[in-house]
This record gives sequence, structure tokens and C-alpha cells, in this order.
Amino acid sequence: MTLADLNPHAARLSDHSIADLLAEPGRDAALQFAAPHLSLDMRRQRLDLKAWAALGACAGAAEAPGFIAAVARGDIVNPTENRPALHVACRNPDRLTDAAMAGRLRDARRRTRAFCEALIAPDALDGSAVRRIVNIGIGGSDLGPRMVYDALKAFRRPGLEARFVSNLDPADLDDALEGADPETTLVLVVSKSFTTQETLLNGRAAHAWLSAALGEAGANRRFAAATAAPDKAAAFGVDPERIFPFEEGVGGRYSIWSPAGLSLEASLGPDVYDRLLAGARAMDDHALSAPVDANAAIAKGLIDAWNRTVRRRPARCVAAYSSRLERLPAYLQQLEMESLGKSVDLSGEPLSPAHSGALVWGGRGSDLQHSVFQWLHQGQDEVPVDFIALGDKAFAADERARALNANLAAQGAALSHGRESDAHRAIAGGRASSTMVLEALTPESLGALVALHEHKVSVEAALYGSNPFDQYGVELGKDLARAILSGDEGSLDGPALELAQRLYVRD
Ligand code: F6P
Repeated sequence: MTLADLNPHAARLSDHSIADLLAEPGRDAALQFAAPHLSLDMRRQRLDLKAWAALGACAGAAEAPGFIAAVARGDIVNPTENRPALHVACRNPDRLTDAAMAGRLRDARRRTRAFCEALIAPDALDGSAVRRIVNIGIGGSDLGPRMVYDALKAFRRPGLEARFVSNLDPADLDDALEGADPETTLVLVVSKSFTTQETLLNGRAAHAWLSAALGEAGANRRFAAATAAPDKAAAFGVDPERIFPFEEGVGGRYSIWSPAGLSLEASLGPDVYDRLLAGARAMDDHALSAPVDANAAIAKGLIDAWNRTVRRRPARCVAAYSSRLERLPAYLQQLEMESLGKSVDLSGEPLSPAHSGALVWGGRGSDLQHSVFQWLHQGQDEVPVDFIALGDKAFAADERARALNANLAAQGAALSHGRESDAHRAIAGGRASSTMVLEALTPESLGALVALHEHKVSVEAALYGSNPFDQYGVELGKDLARAILSGDEGSLDGPALELAQRLYVRD
């Protein structure tokens, strides 16, 4: 059974109303999933239990559960780079078959732990504790730490704030340093490769800012790096004492569990960071052991492939009804699009049409309702929506939170059922959505939510037959930018050269 075998199901179901589908006996039990720290409701999806059973068979045929297990064991699941994918192992080294690798992951954790504990000591930096940590990184070295830091605002260590810098616009670093005291600021450069232009240029500028106030030695004491290329960080001038290496097998977009999450371990504190890891571990246990028909991570991968590949809906909207989860869609966007944006399979053969991941976009509810939801309800394209809600009673104690959640519940119903009216007011309905409810916005539930998405990416990759752990597509643009800067213009076309000149890129 492959995804292509499901096309007759999609055709058969294309004009069913979601109201009819909701009435199908057995649906409540089959399409709702209880997982650690969250639940997933997929009853508003456009499929019936026959199609769902066929999708489940696809998961088995594509060996999706086996792929999840292979990732956790540390097998070479990234064949184009000949590497394992170690994100699950970072939160649970015991799962690895390679004991030496497990030891290295534990050592890396011990080092970041000791560093983070020392940071808040009153004499951490020449007689004062660190008050601000400036995380310089981009892509996976930025989006994850930034998203988690925002989401877990209620759990931060008092007296130590984190700021994040990713963009080459000098204003980005300026803003992160605004009001900072160089004496009490730690700059952390996070770059797996330690070759990323944005990060290295911003790192240099931040070092210069520290040096101007404290001299070279003072700046060096306040400058640290997390990287899989410690030799390059040392060559850059980072004191080896403050270089926190991680393994090549940790992908940037999967790296918050590794030393690349150091700004989180520091600013949330080790206990809260451990709770984040524990939530992710609980989801790992679920993804690895729950049967396919009760496995939320596998179900999520299956439904996303159903919408993308079988129903040919190329995009998905993530609507997080939580102010502090505002950055979650951007985080998932990289996780999914950099992992699943492929056109060839594992052996380099072209993938079948629509066998790559969806375009992921979204934002914060209910704000989205006042910007893009008109398009979702009455536009000509269906974009399935993932609603994310906070389900705790404490949150709902405030009438605004109750109103927020009422909006969330209403939107799913409106997308499903629409409304009959005159031509302008009528809403066709029939549009798919899922709802995830976090037990509360806690380190555990956030860890579980992220881990669920990591596993669901593995499931989709297994179904499509692609490698979710490389990202060669990002290289060409970087090479061309280097060529423009270095004056090696042979590979550039006229408009690119004109633009570089117009924008004063070179003297
Ligand atoms: O642009 C792609 C990318 O390589 C991402 O995969 C990665 O998260 C980001 O750049 C940053 O890379 P690095 O951590 O090596 O600086």
C-alpha cells in the first residue's frame, strides 16, 4: 500500500460533507489521540475510517515506525551525509547502540550544565553574575532557542535575560545589545558549521562591542560558542574553555536538545531545561511504543501526507491560540520545510508528484482571524489548519482566555460546516482542520509538542521516500552571495550584478 493507492479514497470522499463524516460510527475513538502532555483531534479531517485504515497500512508498508526507531538508535538515517540524526539521542543517550557516542552526548551535557550553573554565581564575570546572554545564530541555531525562550517566559531564571540575533541588518545586533552592560553580558555564537556568514559577521561585531569596553581579554571571557566545528571556533578566537561542541549528527533544525540550546539551559535554568527534555522524552516513548492506530506522532505524519500528497493541498496553516507560542509556526516552518522540501528520493531518483512536505505558515490566534482567515474561509484554495490550544483550567480562569478558546473552537466548526446565505455571505465549509490541546503551556508540553513534530517529519519522509536530514538546496544561494562579495562574478547573471552595484555591495 502506497500513498498513490489512496487516490480512489480521496476521490470517493471529495464531496462528502464534514458533518456526514463526523457522524460515522467509531470516528471519535479512531481519530482522537491521547499522548503525553497533549491530545490531538483529527475528526474534522476529510477522510473516513476506511481511508484512515488504508493510510495506516501505508505507514506499515513504508516502515515509518521502524524509521522512528532507527533515528532513536542512532542508525545512519542520513545517507547522503553518512550520519545518524542524534536529536532523540541528545535527550536520551541510553537509546543509542553506539556506547561511545552516548558517552560523548553525556559529556557535552555535563559541560553545558556546569557552565550554566556557574553563570549565575555572583562572581561569574569579574565580580558579577551574567545578566544578559546574546545568542547569535540563524536558522536552526536561532529559531528553536528563540521560540522556546518566548514560550516559556513564565519559567525563566530571574535576573538573566536572553536576546537573539540572526539577521545581517546591523540593527538586529544593535537591538539585542541595547541597554546591555558589557561587564555582565555573555555573547554565545551558535553555529553547527561555524561557517555561516550571518553568524560570523554578527559574532565579530559583538566581539568588537565587548572589546571596545573591556579590552581583548575581557571580551574573550564573555564570548562562548556552541558548534560541531570546535576547531573553527578556536580559529575564530573563542577560548576552548568556552567552546561547547556537539555532534555532526545533530541537525541544526533539530538542535535545541544539544549544546545549541545553551542559551535556553542558561536562561531557563537547568531544572526547567530538563523538564523540556523530559516532555520530549515522554513523546519519544509514545512515538516509539504506541501502536500505529493510537500513535499521535504517526497519525500526525499520516494526516499531513494525506492532505499534501493524496488531496494535493500544498500548504498547511498553524494557528497557535497562545500569545507565547507566536514563534511556533516559524519554528515548524524550518523543521518541516527544510526537512521535507525535496524532489529526489534516497537514491537520487525523482520523487512522485506531491511527495514533498507542505508549505507551512501561520501565526497567532485570534490575530490570524483578523488577517488571513477571510482567505481560509472564502478563498478558492483549501489550506488545512492546525489549531493549537492551551487546555488548562488556570489559563481559562481569565475571561479573555475563555474568549480566546471560544474563538478557536468556533473557527474549526466554521471551516468544517460553513454557512448557507447569499452569494457574498455564504461559506462553503468542508475545509479540514485538526486541533492539538496542550495540557498547559509548560516545559513538558512544549518539549512533547516539538518532539511530536520531529517524529511526524520522520513519518512523512518515510512515506515520501526522501531524506529529512540533509538540506543541500540552501547552498547555491550562499555560494552566489559569496561570489558577489568576493568579486568572482562569472556565475552571476546581469540582474544580480546590477542589483549588487545598485545596493552598494562592493566599493
Ligand atoms: O541555511 C541552512 C542552514 O544550514 C540551516 O540548516 C541551519 O540551521 C542554518 O543554516 C545555520 O547553520 P549553522 O548552525 O551551521 O550556522
